[in-house]
Amino acid sequence: MSGETSVITPADVCVVGLGYIGLPTAAFFANAGLRVIGVDVNAAAVDSVNKGTVPFHEPNFAEFLAAAVESGRLTAQTTTPSADVYILAVPTPFRGDYEADLSYIDAASRSLAPLLRGNELIVLESTSPPKTTEHVAEVIFEARPDLRDANSVMFAHCPERVLPGKIMEEMRNNARVVGGLTPEATTRAAKLYANFCEGEILQTDATTAELAKLTENSFRDVNIAFANELSMISEELGVDVWELIELANHHPRVNILQPGPGVGGHCIAVDPWFIVASAPQTARLIRTAREVNNSKPDFVLDKVRAVLANKPTASIAALGLSFKADIDDLRESPAVDIVASLADMAPEATILAVEPHISALPKRLDLANVKLTDLSDAVQRADVVLLLVDHAEFKSLTLGQLAHATIVDTKGLWRA
Ligand SMILES: NC(=O)c1ccc[n+]([C@@H]2O[C@H](COP(=O)([O-])OP(=O)(O)OC[C@H]3O[C@@H](n4cnc5c(N)ncnc54)[C@H](O)[C@@H]3O)[C@@H](O)[C@H]2O)c1
Repeated sequence: MSGETSVITPADVCVVGLGYIGLPTAAFFANAGLRVIGVDVNAAAVDSVNKGTVPFHEPNFAEFLAAAVESGRLTAQTTTPSADVYILAVPTPFRGDYEADLSYIDAASRSLAPLLRGNELIVLESTSPPKTTEHVAEVIFEARPDLRDANSVMFAHCPERVLPGKIMEEMRNNARVVGGLTPEATTRAAKLYANFCEGEILQTDATTAELAKLTENSFRDVNIAFANELSMISEELGVDVWELIELANHHPRVNILQPGPGVGGHCIAVDPWFIVASAPQTARLIRTAREVNNSKPDFVLDKVRAVLANKPTASIAALGLSFKADIDDLRESPAVDIVASLADMAPEATILAVEPHISALPKRLDLANVKLTDLSDAVQRADVVLLLVDHAEFKSLTLGQLAHATIVDTKGLWRA
C-alpha cells in the first residue's frame, strides 16, 4: 500500500432516476462518448441496467442500451457519485389536492448536495411547476451554504417532450427547450444536449422553460376538452358529434380534435394542474378544461346506466383499458375509472374487460364482477359493447358482428 489517497475521477454526467426518461437519456449521453453513471433508488432497476437489459418496454431501445453498457461508458448504482453534470429525471406526480409532489426532486437534490465541489451543472428534466429549478437551487444551498456565495454551481431546466413508444426517435430529433437560472447556465446546458440532440435547441430562462412544457400539455387538454364538450352538447341536441367535427374541420382554419371517454396518462391529465396551482385565480380556462375532461367518464357511465335500468344482470364488454390506443399504459386511464365505477354501480352485471396489451387486470379491477376476457368471447356474450379505447384490434369489428348488443362507442369507431 502506498498510503496515498486514491482520487476518483468524477463522471461526466450523473443521471438521477433511471425510468422511462432518465435511462434513455443516460444511454444517449454514453453512446455520444460521455462517461455516465445512472443512479436509482430501485436496486432491481440498477441491476437490470448493469446487465444491459431494459427494465420496461420501449421499442428499439434494448440494443442501444446494451451498446452503452458494453462500451463501459454507462454504469448504474444506488448511491449518488461525484459528477460534473447532474440530470434529475425523477417522478413529479400530483397529490390529492392537485399540487405537485416535489418530494422526489427534493430527495434527489439532497443526495447530490454533499458531493458538489463547485462549477457543476444541475439540470432538472422532470416536468415541474414554474420556479421548481429555483427551488432545487434553494434545497441545495440550504444543504451547502458554502456554495451559495461562490455562485459557481449552475442550474437549468430542460423538459422532456418524448412520446413513450417513440423515445429512440424523438429523444434524438425533437427540438429541446433549455432554460438556465443564469445565461451561462443556459449556454452550458444547451452545449451539453448538443452531444446527442439533433433537433433545434431553443434557449430561454428556467421559468419559461418550465411553463413551456406545461403549456404544451395544457394546449392538448384544452383542445380535447372542447371536443369532449361538443360531444355532450351533440348528445343533448341529437347530433352525431363525429359528423359535426368532420364538417367543421373542412373549414381551412379549423382543426378540432376527437372526443373520447376522458383524458388520461401521466402528462396531459396532470401537467395542467401545475399551472392552475401556480396561478389559481387566473388559470380559469385551463382549470375548466380539466374539469370538463374529468367529467366525461360520468357522462359515459350515465349512458350505460340507462341500458342497465332495463337489465341489471347484463354482460358488458368493456373494450380497452389503457389511456390511449395501442399501448399498455393504464396510468390515470379514464377507461379504468369507468370500469371500476361500473363494477361498483352495477353489482349484478358482469363486466368482460378486453385489453389485448395486458395479461392480468390491475389491482384496482381485481373485483368479483370484472373478468379479463378475449375479444371474440366478450363480444359474443355482451348485451352492451362499451368501446373505451380505439385499439387497432377493435377496428376490424363490424356493426354486423355487434348487432345483438347495445353499443356505447366513445371513440366513434362504428358509425352507422
Ligand atoms: N414517461 C414519459 O413519457 C415522460 C415524458 C415527458 C416527461 N416526463 C417526466 O419525466 C419525469 C420522470 O418520468 P419517468 O416516466 O421517467 O418516471 P419513472 O417512474 O419511469 O422513473 C423515475 C425513476 O426515478 C427513480 N427515483 C425516484 N426517486 C429517486 C431518487 N431520490 N433518487 C434516484 N432515483 C429515484 C424511481 O425509482 C424510478 O426508477 C417526470 O417528471 C415525468 O413527468 C415523463
